[in-house]
Amino acid sequence: MNILVTGGAGYIGSVLTEELVAQGHQVTVVDNLTRGHRTAVIPEAVFVQADLNDREALENVFQCHPTEAIMHLAADMSVEDSMTDPGRFFRNNVACGINLLECMLKYGVKKLIFSSSAAVYGQPKEMPVTEATPLNPINVYGESKAMFEQILYRYSEAYGLSSVSLRYFNVAGASTRFGADHHPATNLIPKIVKVALGQQEYLPVFGNDYDTKDGTCIRDYIHVLDIARAHILALSFLEKNMSNRAYNLGNGEGYSVIEVIEAAGRVAGTAIPAKVYPRRPGDPAKLVASSDLAKVNLGWKPQYPELESIIESAWEWQKGHPHGYTSR
Ligand code: UFG
Repeated sequence: MNILVTGGAGYIGSVLTEELVAQGHQVTVVDNLTRGHRTAVIPEAVFVQADLNDREALENVFQCHPTEAIMHLAADMSVEDSMTDPGRFFRNNVACGINLLECMLKYGVKKLIFSSSAAVYGQPKEMPVTEATPLNPINVYGESKAMFEQILYRYSEAYGLSSVSLRYFNVAGASTRFGADHHPATNLIPKIVKVALGQQEYLPVFGNDYDTKDGTCIRDYIHVLDIARAHILALSFLEKNMSNRAYNLGNGEGYSVIEVIEAAGRVAGTAIPAKVYPRRPGDPAKLVASSDLAKVNLGWKPQYPELESIIESAWEWQKGHPHGYTSR
C-alpha cells in the first residue's frame, strides 16, 4: 500500500517506516525535522521535509505522492513543555492534525492510524487500564491526544473517515538500525543506558515514596517493534473494517523504576548508580495496560514482552550511537 507516515523521522516513526518498507509498502515520510533526524529515515522511503502547519506544502505531498492510508505520529511530546506552552501543543497536536484530516478528505484518503498515548487516562484509579477507563488527562499533552481522538470520532461519523487510535504505554527499545535520540533524553530507559555507558554519573530516581511495592513508580514498558507491528495490524484491520476505536498497547506487566534499574544493570553487566530525588510533578504512581481489545480485534500480541530484551535493544543501539544519529 502507499502509506504516508507523519513524524516518520522520529523515534517510533523511523522504526515503523523501516517495518512498513520491510513488508513491501511504499512509504512517504513527512517530517519537519524539529526533533526528527533525516538519517533516521530508511533510504527506501520517500522523504519530504514539511510542517503539517503548512497547508500548501501538505497539499503538495498529497498531489505528488499517491496515498491510501496515513499513520499520524508527528506531535510534540514533552509532558513538561505542554504545561508551560499549551498553545504550541494544541497547535501542533490538534490544529495540525485537522489540516491533515482536511487534506485527507480533499484527496479522498479515508484511513488513518493515530499515535495516541496512555496520557489520555491521567491517574486512573483501577489497574489494569482498559479502554473503558474514563479519559481524564492531567496534562496538556494528554489533553491534546484525547481531543484529537474525539475529533477522529466525529470525522468518522460525519465524513466516513475510518481510524484506529493506538494508546501507547511506555515505549522503549530499538530496532537494529533505529532508536531513540531525544535531546535532552527524558525517558527512563534511554537515561539509564546513558548512565551505563558512563555518559551520565547517576540516574535520578524521581520519588521513592509512592504507594507501590518499593516506593518507585510502576510503568508498562513496551518494545518499539511491537508498537510498529500494531500499526501494521491496525492497517490490515482498516482494510476490512470501518472503525473509530482506540486501543491500549502495553504488555500488561508493571515494573518499578528500581526494577528497571536492576534489569538494566544485568543487561549492561554493571551496577547503575542512582540517587533519589523528589517526585516529578504529574507522575502517576502506577500505569499498567490491559491490551486485550487489541489482541482480540487487531490480532496483536507483543513479541518482545521481556523487560530485559527491551532494555538490551536500547543498550545495543545506544552503544552503537553514543551521541545519537550525529555519530553515525
Ligand atoms: N523516571 C525517573 N528518573 C528519570 C526519568 C524517569 O525516575 O530520570 C521515572 C519517572 O518518574 C516515571 C518512570 O521513570 O515514573 C517513567 O518515566 P518516563 O519519562 O520514561 O515515562 P512517563 O511514564 O513519564 O511517560 C511516557 C511517555 C509519555 C506518555 C506516557 C504514557 O514519555 O509521552 O509514557 O504512559 F504520555
